[in-house]
Amino acid sequence: MSYQAAPERYQNMLYRRSGKSGLKLSAISLGLWHNFGHVDQLENSRDILKLAFDSGITHFDLANNYGPPPGSAEENFGRILKQDFSAYRDEMIISTKAGYTMWDGPYGDWGSKKYLVSSLDQSLKRMGLDYVDIFYHHRPDPETPLEETMATLDLMVRQGKALYIGISNYTAPQAAEAIALLKDLGTPCLIHQPKYSMYERWIENGLLNILETEGVGCIPFSPLAQGLLTNKYLHGIPEDSRAAKPSGFLKESQITPEVLSQLTKLNVLALEREQSLAQMALSWILRDERITSVLVGASKASQLADSLKCLNYLHFSQEELQRIDQILAS
Ligand SMILES: NC(=O)c1ccc[n+]([C@@H]2O[C@H](COP(=O)([O-])OP(=O)(O)OC[C@H]3O[C@@H](n4cnc5c(N)ncnc54)[C@H](OP(=O)(O)O)[C@@H]3O)[C@@H](O)[C@H]2O)c1
Repeated sequence: MSYQAAPERYQNMLYRRSGKSGLKLSAISLGLWHNFGHVDQLENSRDILKLAFDSGITHFDLANNYGPPPGSAEENFGRILKQDFSAYRDEMIISTKAGYTMWDGPYGDWGSKKYLVSSLDQSLKRMGLDYVDIFYHHRPDPETPLEETMATLDLMVRQGKALYIGISNYTAPQAAEAIALLKDLGTPCLIHQPKYSMYERWIENGLLNILETEGVGCIPFSPLAQGLLTNKYLHGIPEDSRAAKPSGFLKESQITPEVLSQLTKLNVLALEREQSLAQMALSWILRDERITSVLVGASKASQLADSLKCLNYLHFSQEELQRIDQILAS
């Protein structure tokens, strides 16, 4: 039977405006970096996407290289989209990116016009789409002039292949320059996608202020530090966890006794707040109104269901915030 989205899907989700743009995003967005490649089970990927959409998640984040193998997350997403979501395309914000190694030779990486134009065309084919809602430059390129990269992003919008433009992994000064160039070109930067979590706080030292001043949104990735900021590693490394998988980017060596001690203390605080540790880690990010949406991953629909409940309690007292800072410094 074909999929019918839950009629009540918009009732329990928050929607936040991305900077000063016209676009609102669901406060939780779903990332397809892991768990959607050809190495994964398609039915499981489909279940995660259905739960996401039924829960009011409108934004689905991809990149040319997601898989493994690279490109396969876009292919699988395209298959599921065609089969289950074709009636809902106008309710979805689909993003992709280019900036990391995708194919051999000098035109399959970084930020040249040649690479970005070819890559977006390939992504559209893999997903079976006419356009993406957001196209990101995935990481700054130290060699290509920023003017060339930004003019290419502007071109994509003018060609109708992307509706909005984003940047990812740009430092605060790099972001300020890119935002100014895009403004001059007449295609404002919609959003910045940086890594941000309790364990990765660099955006608090300048970037968030720039984004706020310039009216650009912010969508942090890896908000659970790839699963560390959950209760899953408190008693060992589960076989089906990212840290145990050969294709995962979280390494066992990152789960040190010091980290475990911090996670145990954070978990106590989360339980006091009547939240799971994952929920508390996500609420902690969304407590800042400058954050448009938080970009989570999930290897099972049940994890996403757990994470979504963070929306029930976004408030933190000053004492709780201080306790978190003390735990992270210990
Ligand atoms: N722009 C960039 O450079 C960049 C880089 C990285 C990611 N991203 C984007 O950000 C998205 C999210 O990144 P991420 O996957 O690293 O995010 P994350 O939310 O920090 O980690 C997701 C992982 O945490 C575990 N998990 C999630 N919810 C859980 C819960 N409630 N309880 C227990 N475990 C839970 C799962 O790992 P297990 O597999 O262990 O179950 C899941 O795969 C990506 O899909 C991608 O779209 C962008």
